[in-house]
Amino acid sequence: MKLKFIYAGAIIVGLELANVIGVFAQNARIKIDLDRTIGEVDEKIYGNFVEHLGRNVYGGIYDPGNPLSDEKGFRKDVLEAVKGLNVSLTRYPGGNFVSNYQWLDGVGPREDRPTRLELAWNRLESNEFGTNEFMEYAKLMGTQPYFAVNLGTGTIEEARRWVEYTNVASGPKYAELRKEHGYTEPHNIIYWSLGNEMDGPWQMGHLSAEDYSKKAREAGKLMKLTDPSIKLVAAGSSNFYPGADPMQWNKVVIDELKDVVDYLALHMYVGNVDDDYYSFVASPLVLEQRTRLVKGLIDEAMHRAERADRDPIYIAWDEYNIWYRWRTGDAMTGERALEERYNLEDALVIASFLNAFIRNSDVVKIANMAQLVNVIAPIFAEEDGMFLQTIYHPMALFANHVFGTALDVYVDSEKYDTGDFALGMGEQRADLKDVPYLDVSATYHGDEVIINVVNRHKDKAITTDIIAQEGAFTGEFEVYEVNGPDIKAENDFGKTNVETMKKSLKGKGDKITYSFPAHSFTLIKAKVQR
Ligand code: AHR
Repeated sequence: MKLKFIYAGAIIVGLELANVIGVFAQNARIKIDLDRTIGEVDEKIYGNFVEHLGRNVYGGIYDPGNPLSDEKGFRKDVLEAVKGLNVSLTRYPGGNFVSNYQWLDGVGPREDRPTRLELAWNRLESNEFGTNEFMEYAKLMGTQPYFAVNLGTGTIEEARRWVEYTNVASGPKYAELRKEHGYTEPHNIIYWSLGNEMDGPWQMGHLSAEDYSKKAREAGKLMKLTDPSIKLVAAGSSNFYPGADPMQWNKVVIDELKDVVDYLALHMYVGNVDDDYYSFVASPLVLEQRTRLVKGLIDEAMHRAERADRDPIYIAWDEYNIWYRWRTGDAMTGERALEERYNLEDALVIASFLNAFIRNSDVVKIANMAQLVNVIAPIFAEEDGMFLQTIYHPMALFANHVFGTALDVYVDSEKYDTGDFALGMGEQRADLKDVPYLDVSATYHGDEVIINVVNRHKDKAITTDIIAQEGAFTGEFEVYEVNGPDIKAENDFGKTNVETMKKSLKGKGDKITYSFPAHSFTLIKAKVQR
């Protein structure tokens, strides 16, 4: 009895104390309604990018003579890590590189391939690795290829010939040339982008929106006449610098090319330049704002289009990542260009980029993390080994688990304002209001709901009720968490501070409760019964 009395007393004291210190503040809430859908998740959002830049190709995926490489020169350890990313679509060969790339230099007998000055990143390009080597690597990766043609210094006929070389079975000159080179079957490359960042003054062969649209239209026409099955991606503008007018570029390009292209490409790099954690981890919301802005342009153009039966135009975020440390001076050129090292806060930003793609699954159908190895990359290799960067882990979790129909999730969590902050790209700035500490997306796939949660809070776990508005959780869960000792924790050779951990979760019925740890990304796969 006494014990009971003491226990009850302790509860009363505890309750009073709790009121004072706010322990019993309402839990955050995530409501899942299986009928509130956004769109199908296109697996092509789990893409990546191999540009001839720094040590991405040479000394990255390809290192002939290295004991860690196979007989073709592909690094076996790197390939194993690449496979873990389940890369759906790999963009090649650039980037800025492509705007002065002659694809014919990179095919045929190696001894005949010319070495060229590579002007985008100030290196020598041996052309030892080209179209066919990439296609062999793509097969090993299990990825679909996504080629970019040179609309900078290249001609529309060169672009057309590349499609003939890769996609036409036999007959015309370039198809026969491929066969002479030992590739009897066509590569059947479906996805082609019409140039890269052609709005940027840094781009070799930079054009105005009007001139680009004319050139892209004619190149696309010739390429499609050569292989009607291909899909085309127009170069959009992501150049949101003060004084630039990216939306005007995008409007012109969508208007002019709406009956030719299938996607509009956008790019985004962010960085924590002012060491302002809370603004940085909110920065993927800017990508989401831009997605909606461009979706509006597409909707408006399609509304005016006469052909109501034409396929929709989707958005391809075909370059995104964190890039600010290796962004000036020598870090931009030569052999070790763009060798950014990542920490935990970067991994949280990647998880939020992926959440943003899921939340916009109706219109974002392609996304490519830039890039694959060494160059702003999830995998970092030296001659004698490699390690997985922090950003590898959320990418791998999404690409291996998050499929199905994207759900419009209701999230109720505490919020914050960022105030004005540098986005990390040149002079671009943002100011975000009401940023929820919990960044959430979810999909419904088979009999499972997959819930992806970034807890942006630096210090506090957030206890959250996850409510099934229809059906019930059966009690079977798989839970994965990406986390580390602190937000600046990095990985290195022989040192793994940030990785994926398996967690457990108990509960069933229409409500489960989970505490999302501070500065973490959690993926919950929950079986549901409708
Ligand atoms: O990914 C690095 C570079 O960033 C790409 O070459 C270019 O397209 C972008 O500006």
